Amino acid sequence: MGYYKATATAHPNIAFIKYWGDLDPDLHIPSNGSISMNLRGLFSRTTVSFDPSVEQDQFSLDNRQIDGTGLVRVSNLLDRVRKMAGINTFASVESHNNFPAGTGIASSASGFAALSLAASKAAGLDFDEKALSRLARTGSGSACRSIPAGFVEWQAGGNDENSYAYSIASPEHWDLVDCIALVSQDEKLISSSEGHALTKTSLLHPARVADAPRRLAVCREAILTRDFDALAEVAELDSNLMHAVMITSSPPLLYWQPATVTIMKAVQSWRKGGLMVCYTVDAGPNVHVLCSRDVSGDIADRLEKLSGVQKVLVAHPGGPADLENG
Ligand code: DP6
Repeated sequence: MGYYKATATAHPNIAFIKYWGDLDPDLHIPSNGSISMNLRGLFSRTTVSFDPSVEQDQFSLDNRQIDGTGLVRVSNLLDRVRKMAGINTFASVESHNNFPAGTGIASSASGFAALSLAASKAAGLDFDEKALSRLARTGSGSACRSIPAGFVEWQAGGNDENSYAYSIASPEHWDLVDCIALVSQDEKLISSSEGHALTKTSLLHPARVADAPRRLAVCREAILTRDFDALAEVAELDSNLMHAVMITSSPPLLYWQPATVTIMKAVQSWRKGGLMVCYTVDAGPNVHVLCSRDVSGDIADRLEKLSGVQKVLVAHPGGPADLENG
């Protein structure tokens, strides 16, 4: 084996067209395609060492030893890598996020993207971007979008081979800014995985999925032509559709807090007033406020003054998952 240890970094991403619901929950084959932007400045950094002296996989996150579901998800991904590399050595995995735990930014996308790159390299595999994206997807669906650079589309496909993400525009293509308004830093009670499984109980899910190809086309075009108004309209619609599915699932999932709605209303009124700004909300109460670079300072200031906003993080388009010293 050429390598046994490798370190990789990857950014989280924010979806403009969301992944919500699976055709195959084990392989994370989604019900619809999605489009996102990587978030520069925020990252996970993960080191994988295949070590003949350890007797089972070990996983630490921000210096805390993780067991239970967290460890099982990491071990399952390592199993896939071991199978492809023809090895049976256990590994120790050390991961750090530069955004503090509990900021409400999901670390599973950046975490599994960095893990996929570090683990495959450490096992001596030389994967191309597509193979890495497919592998990351099996750890956490949205992680497949943190492998390529910039603005990224995850083609839903229908099986393990054809469900992967690729870049549709570089980070330099458009300096769109994500001002992330944090209203709660609590861990969410219902994980995304549980939420995906509930989509089949919502009457609205089939309608959301049926219209997804249209929204994807509008969003792709808006990015390619840097058309903020078109992006704003489709991103807010897509976020609202996902939350409509969540709210109408059984049991219902309502991730919003009163401050979430305060921010959404403020953003809509700012846009009516002529500012290039729109919102999108993931499986939690925090609001990602997208805007053009020239107004981002003003928007971050305005968000900080809104009641219920604890903190605002600002992120620009980010690059691909990357090996360190590799
Ligand atoms: C609301 O990728 O976190 O952020 O595959 O179960 O790990 P698992 O789910 P995950 O789901 C992401 C849900 C979302 C929308 C999105 O990022 O597209």
